[in-house]
Amino acid sequence: MRYFFECGNFVELSLVELSCVLESYDISKDSINRVGEGILLVESNTVTEEVLDRIFQRLGGFIRYGQVIDDIDSFLLPFLKKEKITFGISALGNTNVALKDIQRLANEIKRGFKSNGVSSRFILPKQSELNAAQIFTNSVIENGFELCIFDTKAGRMYGSTLSIQDINAFIKRDLDRPSVDFDMGVLPQKLARMMCNFTGFKEGIIWDPFCGSGTILIEAATLGFDILGSDIDLNAIENSEKNIQWLSEEGLISHTRVKIFPLDIHSVPKKTLKEIKRTGISAIVCEPFMGPPQRKILGDGKADELLNKVRTLYESLFNIMNEISRPGFKVVLIIPSYRTKSGFKTISISSFIGKKWDVLNKKYTKGDLKWERNNSIITRNIFILSKR
Ligand SMILES: C[S@@+](CC[C@H](N)C(=O)[O-])C[C@H]1O[C@@H](n2cnc3c(N)ncnc32)[C@H](O)[C@@H]1O
Repeated sequence: MRYFFECGNFVELSLVELSCVLESYDISKDSINRVGEGILLVESNTVTEEVLDRIFQRLGGFIRYGQVIDDIDSFLLPFLKKEKITFGISALGNTNVALKDIQRLANEIKRGFKSNGVSSRFILPKQSELNAAQIFTNSVIENGFELCIFDTKAGRMYGSTLSIQDINAFIKRDLDRPSVDFDMGVLPQKLARMMCNFTGFKEGIIWDPFCGSGTILIEAATLGFDILGSDIDLNAIENSEKNIQWLSEEGLISHTRVKIFPLDIHSVPKKTLKEIKRTGISAIVCEPFMGPPQRKILGDGKADELLNKVRTLYESLFNIMNEISRPGFKVVLIIPSYRTKSGFKTISISSFIGKKWDVLNKKYTKGDLKWERNNSIITRNIFILSKR
C-alpha cells in the first residue's frame, strides 16, 4: 500500500517529524519517499490503516494524508452503488492545475454518477485545495471522498484523503488557554507538537525546564506524555498550571501525571536534582529565553548579549542533563539566530554537547531544521540530541 502525506509550511520539519513518529511505531523511516514539493509517500504492506491514522493524529506538521490511487475509474466504482455522494478535488503542493480544470474533471465525474443514478454534490476548493473547514462542514470524507492530485518526479499521481489535520484543535489550545505571557515569547503550537514528536517516543515523561506559558507541556500532555515543567519565573509557573488545569477541564487530557515547579536552572539544589533523577524522565524538550519579540534588525551588541544568555542557560542545563540522563535519553532544543546588519548571528551546538551527545538531525535530513518566517528577525534552529 502507498500513502501520501501533505506537509505543512516547513517541509524539512515535517519530514523529520514523520520519520521520528514512524520509528516510534517500529516502522523504518526508509519507507518514506520524498516525491514532490511538500509531498511524502509512505510505502508499507504491514502497517494497518488504524495504526496509520493514530500516527497521523499525532503529527503537527501535516495537512492531510491518504491512499494513493492507481486507477481513478476503479476507485470510483464503489461510489456508484450509493444514492448520494459529496466529493471534492484538491491540487496539492505546487501542482499546476487551474480551478477551471478541477471543475471540468468534477463535471465529468458528476456525469458518470448521474448516468448511474447517483446524486452528487461537488465542493469546489476556494484556492487550489479544500481547506479543513470545507472538508469538515460538508463531511466530505464521511459522505464521499476528496480526490487529490499531485505532481511528483515520476509524473502526476492521484490519491484519496483519509484524514485532514484538525486545525481547530490546535487553534483552540493556542487561543482558548487561559494564561499566556507574550512578552516572554511563546512557541507556535504546531512547532511544540513537532518538537515533542522529534523525541521519537510516544510515551514517557517530558521535562520542559523553561516552560513559560506551557506550550510544550500542553502538546506533550495532549500526545499522552506525563509532564514535568519548571521555570525561574513564578508567573510562568502559574500560567502553565492554569493552562494544564484548563486542558484537563476541557477533557483534552486524562490520567496525565503533572508536576510544575519553580526552578532556576543555574542553581539546582542537590535534593531537587536527586528528585529529578528519580523521576525517570525520557526526554527534555525546550526553548530557552530568547529575549522579547523583536521588530527591528538587532545591533551586533544586542544579538551577542542575547546569545550569551542562551549560552549560559544551556551550559547550566547540560550540566544537569549530564547528571540525570542515561544512554538513549533525548533532548530537543532550540538555538536562536538573530538577524543583524552583518547577517544572522547564532551559537554552535558543539560548544555544549562535548563527547556525550549525538546530534541526530543529519540522520533524518540533509536540510536544516528551522522555523522561520520571511524577514523574521529571530530564526529558531532545532536540534535533536541523543545521549551516548
Ligand atoms: C521563551 S520562554 C519559553 C516559552 C515557552 N516555550 C512557551 O511557549 O510558553 C523562556 C522561559 O525561560 C525562563 N527562564 C529564563 N531564565 C531561566 C532560568 N535561569 N531558569 C529557568 N527558567 C528560566 C523564562 O522565565 C521564560 O519563561
